[in-house]
Amino acid sequence: RSLVHHKFVVKETPYTRLCSTKKILTVNGKFPGPTLYVHKGDTVIVDVYNKGKENITIHWHGVNQPKYPWTDGPEYITQCPIQPGAKFSQKIVLSTEEGTLWWHAHSGWSRATVHGAIIIYPKKGSGYPFPKPHAEVPIILGEWWKKDVGGVLNRFRQTGGDPNVSDALTINGQPGHLYPCSKSDTFKLKVDQEKTYLLRLINAAMSEIMFFAIAKHQLTVVGTDASYTKPLKANYIAISPGQTIDALLQANQPNGRYYMAARIYFSVAGVPYDNTTTTAIIQYKGNYTSSSSSPLPSLPHYNDTNASVSFTGRLRSLRSKEHPVNVPLNISTKLIIAISVNTLPCAYNSCKGPNGTRFSASVNNISFVSPSIDILQAYYKHNNGVYGANFPSYPPLVFDYTADYLPLELELPQNATEVKVLEYNSTVEIVLQGTNLVAGSDHPMHLHGYSFYVVGWGFGNFDKDKDPLGYNLVDPPLQNTIAVPKSGWAAIRFKANNPGVWFMHCHIERHLTWGMEMAFIVKNSDRPEDRLLPPPQDMPPC
Ligand code: C2O
Ligand code: CU
Repeated sequence: RSLVHHKFVVKETPYTRLCSTKKILTVNGKFPGPTLYVHKGDTVIVDVYNKGKENITIHWHGVNQPKYPWTDGPEYITQCPIQPGAKFSQKIVLSTEEGTLWWHAHSGWSRATVHGAIIIYPKKGSGYPFPKPHAEVPIILGEWWKKDVGGVLNRFRQTGGDPNVSDALTINGQPGHLYPCSKSDTFKLKVDQEKTYLLRLINAAMSEIMFFAIAKHQLTVVGTDASYTKPLKANYIAISPGQTIDALLQANQPNGRYYMAARIYFSVAGVPYDNTTTTAIIQYKGNYTSSSSSPLPSLPHYNDTNASVSFTGRLRSLRSKEHPVNVPLNISTKLIIAISVNTLPCAYNSCKGPNGTRFSASVNNISFVSPSIDILQAYYKHNNGVYGANFPSYPPLVFDYTADYLPLELELPQNATEVKVLEYNSTVEIVLQGTNLVAGSDHPMHLHGYSFYVVGWGFGNFDKDKDPLGYNLVDPPLQNTIAVPKSGWAAIRFKANNPGVWFMHCHIERHLTWGMEMAFIVKNSDRPEDRLLPPPQDMPPC
C-alpha cells in the first residue's frame, strides 16, 4: 500500500470554446481536471481547497471507500459542502478496483466542468490481463454550455420544465472540427503504426448516454467501471453518464488521419436534446499525404435503443483465476425499485412541464429531498429528524409500468427523505424497474460504496417468476452504473459488506435534480475490524 498526496484547488478559470470566453469552475485551472494515477490498493489523500464562490463537494466515482464513507462526497448524504475559502482533506481508499474511474463535483451542476480521470494500474509487480499497451489515453466525453452552467441550473429549477440543452459535446474538453472556432484545437492522438493503445473512456456528460466510434478501426473492450471484461470486439461503444469503458485500439490501418466521434443516444420523442457530433483525431506518425477528407465513423442512429442495449448487454466479467466472480447466490434481501419521471402541480402558474405542471422524478414513488445536514453524520451521531428509515421495498402501486399510456395522476410522488436500511453482510438483489410515466427513458443508475453484478435485464415489466430463470450467475459484468433500458428493467446483486451511508441515483443530472435518488444505510458488523471507521477531524460543517 502506498500513500499518494494531491492538491485540488477549485477555482474559476476563463476558457474559450465556440468562439466565446467565460469563466468556468475548474480544479487546478484545468478542464477536464487533472488525472489521478494510482495503483490498485493505494490510499490517496487529496487536499481540496474551495477557492470558488459556491459550495462544492468532490466524489470519487466508483471507488468503494471500504468502511470510510466520510470522504465519498455527495452533498448532504455523506458530508456538508466545502464552503468558499474552506478546505477538506479527502481520503480515497482503493481496494478491489482496477482500470478506469473518475472524480467529479457532487453538488449542484458543478460537475459539468469539475471532473477528471482516475487511472488505476494493476498492483506493482502484476500486469494487465492483456498484452501491455504502448500507451494509455483518457478519453473524456463531456458537454459545453455557452451560458453559465449555474444559471442553466437555476432557470431549470425555476421553470420546472426541461433544461436548456448544451451547445456542444466534447472529447477531452474540445468540441472538435464540426463546431465553430474549434477546428484547430481538436483533440489529437498521435499513434505509431502497429502499436496498441488503451483508451480509457469516461462519460462525464450531464445528460445522456453516448455512442462512440473510430473510423475504420475496431475496438476491443477489456474493462468497464474498473473491472475487467472478456475481450469484446466492437465497431461502436455505448456509454452511460458515470460509466467507464476500457478499450484497446490497434493502429493497424494505412498511415493517415481518422476521426473518432461521439454523439448522444436519446430515446424520448419530442424532447429537445443536443444532436451535435463531437470529434477528435487519430493521427498516424510517419509520412503520408494528409488527405483532408478523413471519414467520420458511422454511429448508430440517435434513438436506436437496440444498438445501445445490445452493446451493453454483451459485456461479461473476465472471470479468471486472478479476477474471480463472486455473485451472491442466496439472496436475503430483495427489493424492487420503480424509477419514474413524474409531474407535480405547479406552485405558480407558469411551470414548463406537461400541461403547466412541474417535472419531478422518484424511486418507489418517493422524490428525494436533500436534508440540511448530511445523513451520514445524523446516523453516526444518532440525530433524530434528519431522515426516515421507511423506504419501501416495493413500489406502493402495482400496475403495468411500461404500458404505452399511463395516466399522469396514477402516481403523484411524495417528497421525502427516506433511507433503506440493509443488514450487514446481507445479500441484496435490486430490480430497477423503469416506468413509462410521463415518458419512459433510459436511466443510468449509479450506486456509491459498491460494485454490483448485473445479473439480468429486459424490456417490459419484470416477471418475478420467469425472469430470474434467465439470470447470468456465471460471468455477469461488475459495474457501478447500469443503464436501465427504456421501458425495461435491470437486476443487480451485491453483498452489503461495506457499512455506512451510500447514495444511489440516476446519473442523468436533470433526473437527479428532480429527485431520482435514494440512500442506503448499511448497518455495522459485529466484528470490530469490519466496522465503520470514525470521521476525520476536518469534516466540513453545515
Ligand atoms: Cu458519479 Cu453520485 O455519482
Ligand atoms: Cu434517469
